[in-house]
Amino acid sequence: MLEEVVATRYVTPLREGGSLPGIVEADDLGTYVMKFTGAGQGRKTLVAEVICGELGRRLGLRVPELVTIQLDPVIGLAEPDQEVQELLRASAGLNLGMDYLPGSLGFDPLAYEVGPAEAGKVVWFDALINNVDRSWRNPNMLVWHGDPWLIDHGATMIWHHNWPGAQASAAKPYNASDHVLAPFRPDIEAAAAELAPLVTEELLTEVAAEVPDAWLEGEPGFDSTDQLRRAYVEPLLARAGSIHERIERDAPTKTRPSQAPGWLTEHLTPWPHPTKKDRAAQADAGRAGKDGGR
Ligand SMILES: Nc1ncnc2c1ncn2[C@@H]1O[C@H](COP(=O)(O)OP(=O)(O)O)[C@@H](O)[C@H]1O
Ligand SMILES: [Mg+2]
Repeated sequence: MLEEVVATRYVTPLREGGSLPGIVEADDLGTYVMKFTGAGQGRKTLVAEVICGELGRRLGLRVPELVTIQLDPVIGLAEPDQEVQELLRASAGLNLGMDYLPGSLGFDPLAYEVGPAEAGKVVWFDALINNVDRSWRNPNMLVWHGDPWLIDHGATMIWHHNWPGAQASAAKPYNASDHVLAPFRPDIEAAAAELAPLVTEELLTEVAAEVPDAWLEGEPGFDSTDQLRRAYVEPLLARAGSIHERIERDAPTKTRPSQAPGWLTEHLTPWPHPTKKDRAAQADAGRAGKDGGR
């Protein structure tokens, strides 16, 4: 089971995503991004966060630490926003917390470069868990201390929304055309060779065990939470060995302007990033050009 902490202060809502997570402080003096059980997306989103986040971290990817957070809605009484008040009231009890990465920036594919090896691992991992939410529109990656970190694994494992069709659903390919790291020449073969053997029944059973019972109880078609945990293991285990052969990529057609502030990106275009020497040479050439015109 994940470590459990108690929320002591609701700090502020985060409005970039769709689910209105909030920043909270907890009794372990930690600061967390809290995902609410009472959010419209439902508790399956939280189950997906736990299973995929914990799996990713065990595969060596950077995923902030996860905890469960006990919430007494009374901590939000001073919060003026009606929507937040309702969310807090609907989420009394156990919620999900992700370690808050202070000072992190949203990943911008025009401002940061990722090598083919790391890009390959992330694309392969997203194919494994069927993550449809790491596109250039919505990268769900943060850059912290210079490294990319993976967040938001709520929109994964689509098969857990329809268990009777899970096997057929998990056998489907993964389309990586819109993946935020698709332009970084992801080395998917190398990633599969390294990571697929690590995705064992044992490891998946271990990550499924991290999910609190409260988020699994009462699922139609299952007699026990253990049986449901087992159902989470099977599609991932089946996918691990061969999903790399079913990663589809359409020809790249989409480009978009950077949304990063100018101070972050203006010195970065075009790639490769110009060095000081390049810039000095460019300035010299500019001066020479002007002189020549006189
Ligand atoms: N661990 C974190 N540290 C710092 N900021 C975060 C963290 N997790 C999420 N955020 C910020 O909150 C936003 C929404 O979080 P996300 O997990 O993507 O939720 P949603 O389901 O609403 O998309 C992110 O885009 C990011 O800006
Ligand atoms: Mg998000």
